[in-house]
Amino acid sequence: MAEQEAGICHFHVLVDPAGAVLGRVNLTDAVDGAADLGYRIAERAAGQGLATWGVREVCRRAAGAYGLAALRAATTLDNTASRAVLARTGFTVTGETRLSGRPGLTYVRRLQP
Ligand SMILES: CC(C)(COP(=O)(O)OP(=O)(O)OC[C@H]1O[C@@H](n2cnc3c(N)ncnc32)[C@H](O)[C@@H]1OP(=O)(O)O)[C@@H](O)C(=O)NCCC(=O)NCCS
Repeated sequence: MAEQEAGICHFHVLVDPAGAVLGRVNLTDAVDGAADLGYRIAERAAGQGLATWGVREVCRRAAGAYGLAALRAATTLDNTASRAVLARTGFTVTGETRLSGRPGLTYVRRLQP
């Protein structure tokens, strides 16, 4: 919470009308105008476009309220759903990486103020 207060992290939860948590979309390590994006959707709420919606909304907030110029992301090659979310929300591949020992891709999305 101290990091969020300092603007280093921006945490978001997605909730249903009854207040049950459906997922999260977080920005961490926000320094020098760029931050790392991470997200997770509850299994029962997956496959309905929620991650896509949440990432788009957080990109909007990142460019506006948070004053960021770029977001970074990474996912494993076998995470087809996550790769679809990133491609659909304007992220482009910047390179290869390994995540928990598995091959992955790194991404960036430039933000317009
Ligand atoms: C990845 C994750 C965030 C996707 O959330 P979501 O709300 O289901 O995503 P969306 O519905 O917005 O979009 C997912 C897309 O991937 C597709 N997809 C889902 N599972 C798939 C699979 N196994 N193979 C191929 N495509 C798949 C969906 O059909 C959808 O595309 P479409 O709308 O063109 O049909 C969610 O599955 C999750 O939380 N996974 C565990 C945590 C994780 O992997 N986080 C990302 C780390 S980088």
